[in-house]
Amino acid sequence: MIFTVAIDGPAAAGKGTISKQVAAHFGFAHLDTGLIYRATGARVLAGEDPLAAAKDLRPEDLQRDDLRTTEVAQAASKVAVMADVRAALAAFQQAFARREGGAVLDGRDIGTVICPEAEVKLFVTASDAVRGERRFQELSGKGHDVTRASVLADLKARDARDSEREAAPLRAAEDAVVLDTSDMSIAQAVDEAIATIRRVLG
Ligand code: CDP
Repeated sequence: MIFTVAIDGPAAAGKGTISKQVAAHFGFAHLDTGLIYRATGARVLAGEDPLAAAKDLRPEDLQRDDLRTTEVAQAASKVAVMADVRAALAAFQQAFARREGGAVLDGRDIGTVICPEAEVKLFVTASDAVRGERRFQELSGKGHDVTRASVLADLKARDARDSEREAAPLRAAEDAVVLDTSDMSIAQAVDEAIATIRRVLG
């Protein structure tokens, strides 16, 4: 069975958690496409050329333990503006989306550019305040040295860069179901996502 669930949305809206749980529920494979951009950004921070790093990305690059830092997040959104970098990373994501057995991909442009034929498209969002608080709790819980203000500034800067870029800007596909998780628990958001997918699976 070929079945793609595309989950897009701004930073820290809950895409990652929802994607993982939805994939586990249906037995689909999951790809966090943000990690690919973060791994490329991390190599650029270490001095590499962005396109060379994107073309040479290896599985172990996705396992680095520094990918969740705000520095790497910023570097990711800077390489993500480059059309040639995005093109170098597209084929892998497209093959993953149409792999046998079903796939969930989360990112910014999955429903619009990577897999416009996705059977289900969700656009997951939440207010700035809620996203800032969630990401602050996540990062401080992992021992990162961050403040609420610095986390919110990172999210806003990336959202602006991601939305305003020319190549594959962050936006909901016309046929996406919008899921505003501001007033939802993670469990509620996951339930909503599962119900939407069930309606399509039949
Ligand atoms: O986890 P969070 O939502 O904060 O970010 P992420 O999904 O890990 O993505 C990090 C950065 O990669 C984003 O700010 C985007 O600039 C870029 N990205 C993208 O351009 N396209 C994607 N499909 C996924 C991520």
